[in-house]
Order: sequence, then C-alpha cells, then structure tokens
Amino acid sequence: MSNIIKAPTPGVTRKLGERIGRLLRAGDVVLLSGELGAGKTVLAQGIGRGLGVTDPIKSSSFVIMNEYEGATLRLYHADLYRLEDPEQVAELALDELAEKGVLVVEWPERAPNEMPLEHLLARLAYDGAKARTIEIEGVGARYEALARRAEPKSK
Ligand SMILES: Nc1ncnc2c1ncn2[C@@H]1O[C@H](COP(=O)(O)OP(=O)(O)OP(=O)(O)O)[C@@H](O)[C@H]1O
Ligand SMILES: [Mg+2]
Repeated sequence: MSNIIKAPTPGVTRKLGERIGRLLRAGDVVLLSGELGAGKTVLAQGIGRGLGVTDPIKSSSFVIMNEYEGATLRLYHADLYRLEDPEQVAELALDELAEKGVLVVEWPERAPNEMPLEHLLARLAYDGAKARTIEIEGVGARYEALARRAEPKSK
C-alpha cells in the first residue's frame, strides 16, 4: 500500500519526516529515493528531529554513513550516491547496525541487493519549482502500518 503526500515547501517535507521519526523504533529501516535535490536530506533531517537528534544532519558527500545520537535511538544516515562498489555496503553490515537504532538510506538503488527486504520507502519527486510529491510505501506488515500512520491526516 502507498499514499502520496503533497509537500509545497521544505517545511512540509521536514514535518513529514518528523512525524515518521516519532513513529520509528530500533531496527527500523527507511529508504529515501528520488532525483538529485528532490529533498531526501530534508526528509532525513525531519526524521532526525522526530528522533530528538540535536546535531545538524548534513548531506554526507564523501562519507557513506553518518551516525547521530537521538533522544533514545541512534540514527544511521547513509548516502550511497557516490558508492563505487555495492560491496562497500555489504561491509557496513546494515542489518546489525539497524538493531542499535534507525537506518535511513539515501540512494538505496545504488545497492538494491544490500537493502533490508522490509522497509519504509519514501519516493520524492519534483512537482513544480518548490513543490514535491512524497509517496510513502510500506514493505512488510510493520511498515505498511507505519506508512498508514505517517499520513498527515491519521492520528
Ligand atoms: N517541498 C520541498 N521539499 C523538500 N525540499 C525542497 C522543497 N522545495 C524546495 N526544496 C529545496 O530542495 C533542496 C533539497 O535538497 P536535499 O539536499 O534535501 O535533496 P536530496 O534529495 O537529498 O539531494 P541529493 O540527491 O543531492 O542528496 C533543498 O535546497 C530544499 O530547500
Ligand atoms: Mg541528500
């Protein structure tokens, strides 16, 4: 199942991320897909806010993974854009990492076979100069429920 959310401004994208961040628990995986500049890092920043991360979440151009301390969970923020070899991701042992916190991955399509099978997927797309559409899809029962709860209208 999936639902599409309209995000006319970066603030709306960040708020959606914050909402998702508050719903996450240890072991959760969120994949962020979309073109350059679509807003994946903005969404990740919102997720960080929802997790209570206070350090600024930066786009990690030269580092594949950054780690942040949240209120109760750690945030592992990976950006695979510059990945040269999917083997590099295998070395990160994502499944083990995620047990200690929440894993958020930008450009998951760079290493599709290394991504956990069950995950929440956000597809961001341009919808005009500033506006974006964000499609939230849950793969697996846990994430289907999460996707429903991430909808702005739901409680
Ligand atoms: N509705 C919107 N939602 C999110 N970002 C927006 C929106 N409108 C404008 N922007 C701008 O678009 C840019 C998105 O940048 P961001 O770094 O989040 O993209 P990205 O998808 O992570 O790109 P990359 O593939 O380079 O990592 C920011 O400068 C942000 O201010
Ligand atoms: Mg980014």
